[in-house]
Amino acid sequence: HSRSPQIHRYWLRHYDLDGSYDLAELAPDQLGVFIEKLRQSDNAGANVTLPYKRDVIEYLDEIDEGSRDVGAVNTIYKQGGKLLGTNTDIYGFLTHLSLTAPGWQENTDSVVIIGAGGAARAILSAMKISRIDKIYIANRTISRAQNLIKEIHPAARAVKMVQLNDLLPTTDLMINTTSLGMVGQPPLELDLLTLPAHSIVVDIVYTPLKTRLLLKAEQRGLVAVDGLGMLLHQAVRGFELWFGTRPEVTPELRHLVEKSLEVPP
Ligand code: ATR
Repeated sequence: HSRSPQIHRYWLRHYDLDGSYDLAELAPDQLGVFIEKLRQSDNAGANVTLPYKRDVIEYLDEIDEGSRDVGAVNTIYKQGGKLLGTNTDIYGFLTHLSLTAPGWQENTDSVVIIGAGGAARAILSAMKISRIDKIYIANRTISRAQNLIKEIHPAARAVKMVQLNDLLPTTDLMINTTSLGMVGQPPLELDLLTLPAHSIVVDIVYTPLKTRLLLKAEQRGLVAVDGLGMLLHQAVRGFELWFGTRPEVTPELRHLVEKSLEVPP
């Protein structure tokens, strides 16, 4: 389901670079061989998708602090003869948030993260990097939230989904990282009426582009941050590491990806 080929091919064309971005499907026992080939080749690097984001780490020379925290690498690049790994979701999330809600950090004391899966790991790491300690993680399976906290950011607290309503009046930033609200999934049933007027609501779901959660936030006049921006900006970091050019998320690119979301990839 990756949108990455479309995004990177757009930038290769846009900057008139002589390169390509291709997909490779791997059987589990081919991961080590694939990475060795990548090391020997002229290729600038690779993206890694599920289910190899964790397993790939052992084949790399170094990974950065963020990907160590998340426990997952989604981008491999080369530097000084080494094969390095990073997790660009953290960068993508923080960049899009800063662009959509400038100054968010100054007004953010208390954060609620809903969900405790792979996406929540990257966002909790992003909060740690942003030096935010007052974080509540609400998840259906509370033990998953507790594990995430223990591994990544011990200052955070795990709460049950039913406790969300009590937390909202003191929440500055709320982020849905679950699949609730995605096409074909149940909605995230949450009344946003008690959120303070300055609150920011983020939904990492981007199909539909405007989830019910984001629509409710907009109706209340809150800043609503969509998930597509995070996807586009995480790709910026990878492209920059591979090709040495920081690409721009142009309205044209966003429009192209939005159009492609209307039909299955
Ligand atoms: P991802 O890597 O995209 O984050 P994931 O690891 O499968 O995907 O995590 C999905 C998240 O959505 C989890 O927090 C999951 O809650 P559980 O940990 O309890 O499974 C949450 N989720 C998915 N469907 C849900 C539902 N119907 N009700 C509540 N939470 C749901």
